[in-house]
Amino acid sequence: MLVAMVAFLAMATVAFCNPAAPAGDISMKGAKKGAVNLSHKMHAEKAGISDCKTCHHSWDGKAAPQKCDSCHKEKKDGKTPSMKTAAHKQCKGCHKKSKNKAAPTSCKKCHKK
Ligand code: HEC
Ligand code: HEC
Ligand code: HEC
Ligand code: HEC
Repeated sequence: MLVAMVAFLAMATVAFCNPAAPAGDISMKGAKKGAVNLSHKMHAEKAGISDCKTCHHSWDGKAAPQKCDSCHKEKKDGKTPSMKTAAHKQCKGCHKKSKNKAAPTSCKKCHKK
């Protein structure tokens, strides 16, 4: 009985919470310069970013956020900047502003071959 209750509560918690950020690292493999690693856990814990919309700016807050490249393509399209511009503005932009030495701003620290 207790086991069933715990299992039910665990499921209910998952069902009622917002979609969770991926636990493991994500390798963004679009760049010829080399794949870029992104850790949700590190950005939440060490960089202290709690709002998903800081990065998933177009997110409706309900279903799982879409991948950036479902909108940001290789080339700029009307108002939508290219994936490169979007990624560099967002990732490098915050890293520069943070003045945190652990936040990489050099090509090779983000792009790994
Ligand atoms: C803070 C991390 C970061 C830094 C620093 C950075 N990039 Fe990127 N870059 C990215 C991400 C993320 C993408 C998008 C990757 C994807 O779409 O999978 C990207 C995309 C690109 C692309 C377009 C994809 C391709 O290769 O065709 C190029 C070119 C690129 N970066 C070159 C550079 C160069 C040159 C530098 C140094 C001056 C640099 N990047 C520094 C994160 C970074
Ligand atoms: C520091 C920026 C950043 C923050 C903060 C962030 N994300 Fe992400 N997230 C990304 C990037 C970049 C990707 C990779 C997108 C891609 O591959 O195009 C991603 C991918 C994801 C994916 C996988 C999407 C897919 O279809 O593969 C999910 C789910 C997700 N994020 C959920 C969240 C949730 C929930 C939060 C808030 C708790 C969050 N993220 C906070 C940057 C961030
Ligand atoms: C549903 C489509 C969509 C998704 C998904 C999306 N974007 Fe965007 N993004 C846009 C559009 C459209 C614009 C231009 C208009 C605006 O600023 O809202 C934009 C603008 C931006 C800008 C501002 C660029 C500038 O020139 O100031 C950045 C940075 C950016 N996106 C980064 C990202 C990143 C990183 C992700 C993934 C974590 C992402 N976007 C996911 C549609 C999207
Ligand atoms: C709003 C601010 C912010 C945004 C947006 C952001 N970062 Fe960061 N990032 C940080 C900070 C702060 C650190 C250093 C954290 C610490 O103290 O260790 C960091 C560290 C990192 C590191 C080094 C640590 C590690 O996991 O290896 C990588 C790589 C990284 N970020 C990639 C990215 C990429 C790729 C993006 C865009 C998709 C991104 N970041 C967007 C703030 C940000």
